[in-house]
Amino acid sequence: MTPFTLHTRSSECAARRGEVRTRHGIFQTPVFMPVGTQATVKAVTPENLLEMGAGIILGNTYHLFIRPGHELIRRFGGLHGFMNWPGSILTDSGGFQIFSLKDLATITEEGAAFRSHLDGAKLFLSPEGAVQVQESLGSDIMMCLDTCIPYPADRRQAQASTDLTTRWAGRCRQAHSNREQLLFGIVQGGMYADMRQSAAAALVDIGFDGYAIGGLSVGESKTLMHEMTEATVPALPADYPVYLMGVGTPADLVEGVWRGIDMFDCVMPTRNARNGTLFTSHGKVVIKNARYRDDPAPLDATCTCYTCRNYSRAYLRHLFVSREILSYHLNTIHNLHYYINLMDQIRTAIEADCYARFRNDFYSRLTDQ
Ligand code: GUN
Ligand code: ZN
Repeated sequence: MTPFTLHTRSSECAARRGEVRTRHGIFQTPVFMPVGTQATVKAVTPENLLEMGAGIILGNTYHLFIRPGHELIRRFGGLHGFMNWPGSILTDSGGFQIFSLKDLATITEEGAAFRSHLDGAKLFLSPEGAVQVQESLGSDIMMCLDTCIPYPADRRQAQASTDLTTRWAGRCRQAHSNREQLLFGIVQGGMYADMRQSAAAALVDIGFDGYAIGGLSVGESKTLMHEMTEATVPALPADYPVYLMGVGTPADLVEGVWRGIDMFDCVMPTRNARNGTLFTSHGKVVIKNARYRDDPAPLDATCTCYTCRNYSRAYLRHLFVSREILSYHLNTIHNLHYYINLMDQIRTAIEADCYARFRNDFYSRLTDQ
């Protein structure tokens, strides 16, 4: 049974407005999921996240498997109990993180052998193991273990990796015992539209609670990323949630929704916050810039976040250049609020069936600074 309820479809594009039900509640889609790799969304508390309106956050199997270990987290009531987060949690499987270890990882039919980036210890994750770890973590949405294809990759290389991901998906599905936790399949296929379409069909045959598009935003052009999204979405069943992994900029979210994406995650708002790059309705603000030294205005006059309601640009700049801890906190609150609020506006626009106009207005605001 699908966890997805479709509310409205745009008459202008593939955008849709719906909701996903998990055992920790319902979240509205399209949604942006803040990234909490290490059982924390860096620099903010679960209370802050709730105030910003976050319904679902992300955790990472690879990191939590290495430290503090899924068995420990299970004893604390899973990730929800351990980190005191009452909303939904999606855990990524670890495939992507292991892949980025490069020299430290060996992929075989059986699974991924790798060395811990912390102490070099030899570790192994099979598709079955990845599901078992995620069951211990108690996430609401688990991801299949997949392999990532480097960019660029020739067709043979992409096909071999995609086929392995599909076989692993079958094994993840077999290993999935707790049906209260949802399991999503991941479509790979490199930059080959037909390969992505057959990968999607194979995953749909196996049958998952939702489908993700992986292997994008890996260095390809935006045009190619959009092309791959456009090729994949129609190959997936319309009554299941579709998740575009690791994407992206505010414009990427607007474009992804246009093409039928329901769920997104990205480190961009949280990481940029800590680097002092802040998102506003008029574009990016680099807060260390001297022009803000004396600036009494809030970061974004239209923003209703805690940071913008209470602090000036001059203060935020001072905290940042002084490397004060509060800088991370206030900047992260603003950037996450911006992303979450953008998705809220997107949902309202789809409901009113004026998403094309919303998209145009979004771009004209960005350029009128
Ligand atoms: N995060 C961003 N891209 C990917 C991907 O292709 N696979 C997984 N597992 N996670 C991702
Ligand atoms: Zn703000």
